[in-house]
Amino acid sequence: MPNILIRKPLSMIKDEAGEEGEHTLKRSLGALNLIALGIGAIIGAGIFVLTGSAAAQYAGPAIILSFVLAGTGCLFAGLCYAEFASLIPIAGSAYTYGYATLGELFAWIIGWDLILEYAFGAATVASGWSANVLKALQLLQIHIPPQLMATPGTDMVYWQGMWRTAVSLPAGTDLTSLSHATASFNIVAFLAICIITMILVIGIQESATLNTFIVFVKVGTVLVFIGVAAIYLFAHPDIASANWHPFIPPNAGEFGKFGWSGIARGAAVIFFAYIGFDAVSTAAQEAKNPQKDMPLGILGSLAICTVLYIVTALLLTGVLKYTQLNVAAPVADGIEATGVAWGQWLVLIGTIAGLSTVMLVMLLGQSRVFFSMSRDGLLPEWAGRVHPKFRTPYISSITVGIFVAIFAAVIPIGILGELVSIGTLLAFVIVCAGVWVLRRKQPDLPRPFKTPLVPLVPILGMIISFALMAALPLDTWLRMIIWLAIGLFIYFGYGRHHSRVQIAAKRL
Ligand code: ALA
Repeated sequence: MPNILIRKPLSMIKDEAGEEGEHTLKRSLGALNLIALGIGAIIGAGIFVLTGSAAAQYAGPAIILSFVLAGTGCLFAGLCYAEFASLIPIAGSAYTYGYATLGELFAWIIGWDLILEYAFGAATVASGWSANVLKALQLLQIHIPPQLMATPGTDMVYWQGMWRTAVSLPAGTDLTSLSHATASFNIVAFLAICIITMILVIGIQESATLNTFIVFVKVGTVLVFIGVAAIYLFAHPDIASANWHPFIPPNAGEFGKFGWSGIARGAAVIFFAYIGFDAVSTAAQEAKNPQKDMPLGILGSLAICTVLYIVTALLLTGVLKYTQLNVAAPVADGIEATGVAWGQWLVLIGTIAGLSTVMLVMLLGQSRVFFSMSRDGLLPEWAGRVHPKFRTPYISSITVGIFVAIFAAVIPIGILGELVSIGTLLAFVIVCAGVWVLRRKQPDLPRPFKTPLVPLVPILGMIISFALMAALPLDTWLRMIIWLAIGLFIYFGYGRHHSRVQIAAKRL
């Protein structure tokens, strides 16, 4: 009877991390690449879109405190990821940390759970990306048939010279007088994932270089917004002070609608904006110097984005009253309110650039997790094959790419966003628990980076992550539980019988 809680010995993991040759991943990433990978995955739809609706519906100007709260939870989790990523520099990230500390069953659960974060995350972002690209194409008078603009069954309408989804029109618009079409396939999202998959197959260094370039564009966009909005608010302090008052709007009588509970609900919603720093750890096997550079990549990207987010939220709620922010492109509206006419274009470019690297890093993360699970025998052997020339896990990347491209093209993505958040938070809880467990079980391991104040930091990381999970709707919990149940079925049907760790233990 296999022991489903068997742990993968650290010595075995370290041997794998040290392997070299054409069947292993190529160690070519430096600290700057890793910080850029983190920023590439973090800055995206969250800051450009969700900040506005969360301020308008839940927290008001105190959305800044929601960013501080969610950022603090991420900092605690990030410190735990940093300890593991420098100690266990293997592509599997949270999956491998779980294997070393909590045992095979937990490892499988995290690996399966990470699909929610990385594969579903990439599909969610592809859908948002396509909406922005389609808008830019139509502004440039490039038209594609409305049937190919969204997932099957989406009602498209022609309004103000552009095809858009009917649900995105302002409330009260008379839809009966407009031309309608029913969409059947989101071709832009599909192609985006295919192209990014090709880049990922060609090479890690090529992917990282492209990512670094695009990251400069999107950080530049955020900095321009910050600069323009700050100059405007210095010139109009009366507008700022009117918009920032009341800073915490009084609670509207139900949990989560303004007041302190609104700050908490706002934090659960904008948590999505922080997702991605942990994906840096999936590139650990491709880092030149993981012991030193992994903590830098994870914590450096998180710190930079946290500061950018808090400043952006502060200025956005200063330029526009929070009640005006429940719109599709709040940052674009904010910059336009300062009188800068090209604001819409700037933010469109920033969003398109921003979301493209989020997809890239998420797909990178997913293929690396599958690579590690396959090398451990929990997934079939082909998923772990490395291309002899490109040195990338090409079969895993292509398989993930095909599935994600189809998901993004045909599944309405609305509900997936919250699944992505809950899946990520569950991984955070388990990683924080893992750091604490390993400190107790093997206190003397040489740890290149040590999470400070253990067990306080892991415990606070777990509490905040769990509290954010609790703020998500019951439906999201049910979907996650069903997803994990499907995963367990596969583990008991396949992984348990093919696990290399189990086979090695039997031989002893
Ligand atoms: N953090 C990423 C975003 O906001 C997932 O798009």
